[in-house]
Amino acid sequence: MLVQGESYRTVWLSKEDQEVVWVIDQRQLPFRFVKEALLNVHDIKRAITDMHVRGAGCIGATAGFGMYLATLEASRSNDFEKSLQYSAGILRNTRPTAVNLTWAIERQLKEISGENEIDDKIEVAKRTGKAIADEDVIACQQIGQHGLPIIKNLLKKKGRGPVNILTHCNAGWLAFVDHGSATAPIYAAHNEGIPVHVWVDETRPRNQGARLTAWELYQNGVPHTVITDNAGGYLMQNGQVDLVITGTDRTTHTGDVANKIGTYLKALAAKDNKIPFYVALPSSTFDWKINDGVKKIPIEIRDATEVTHIHGERNGEECMVRLIPDGSKAINHAFDVTPARLVTGLVTERGICNASETEIHQMFPEKL
Ligand code: MRU
Repeated sequence: MLVQGESYRTVWLSKEDQEVVWVIDQRQLPFRFVKEALLNVHDIKRAITDMHVRGAGCIGATAGFGMYLATLEASRSNDFEKSLQYSAGILRNTRPTAVNLTWAIERQLKEISGENEIDDKIEVAKRTGKAIADEDVIACQQIGQHGLPIIKNLLKKKGRGPVNILTHCNAGWLAFVDHGSATAPIYAAHNEGIPVHVWVDETRPRNQGARLTAWELYQNGVPHTVITDNAGGYLMQNGQVDLVITGTDRTTHTGDVANKIGTYLKALAAKDNKIPFYVALPSSTFDWKINDGVKKIPIEIRDATEVTHIHGERNGEECMVRLIPDGSKAINHAFDVTPARLVTGLVTERGICNASETEIHQMFPEKL
């Protein structure tokens, strides 16, 4: 996508030095656009844990490249296999909810184990890292094409634009390698000249909506308005939301959707107001093992300071401002699970299906 008119991905291998991974340091947005070079597994671990990169697809692609760096490190150790498994363990533990992380690590381990020579293991890990990133881009592009008719039909039904779309958190291109999941149909519609307007939930506590979704929509000229997390229900009751579309960090093969905390409340409000609630995801975000998402998907609990404080910029200086009394406790659940019954449909790279075990498996029969 475009940043000041220049096209970027969120994570890529350096052209000059193929042992360096570049990412966009998302902690600095929207104040500064900063690229960061990651040189080893430790850098990758830090980048994922501390949210220099975040969002399911972007985490997966970064971990994929991380495993390539792990093969380089392993080749300099006494015991290749032990070193590789150690690095895989470190990367697996960076964040618990987004399933793309383990998906990318396990895919790399399988590919690497298929080679005998160390040089070949390194080569296949590099190729696989690039493939994970490229496939993410293609899947998101396809999600855009499959989701586009939803927006077109809403415009037809309404008779005039804009189509008002509410989204939560950032499931934009920053959360993937390019295009995004929830934003892909929005960008596709905007590029076709279909009038869209996006309600951007600010998404406390890390404000991924206010800081990231708003920034990327602005960079790409898509009309949008940032709202408080509590405003969505009111807007829905007043006919100002035509569609809700979010991303997901993990969706069970039975259709339960884990996404940024607050998504469930949006789904409830959408149901009450008969507004379609779609979730967009590449197949790498499905969990093919867990049946009951509400009970079984691990929910990350992050540092309470993300709740007690707010991060911003004042006179060009970044600062943290305390929001709550010194003696008060806070807790920071990062995700919630929206049960399948509240989801109108899943927009995947293969098309749209109901959030049901039957339809998901019909769409992806090879996973049975
Ligand atoms: O904690 P984050 O920022 O990594 O959370 C991920 C998200 O941005 C959202 O939950 C998003 O809607 C889905 S990720 C494609």
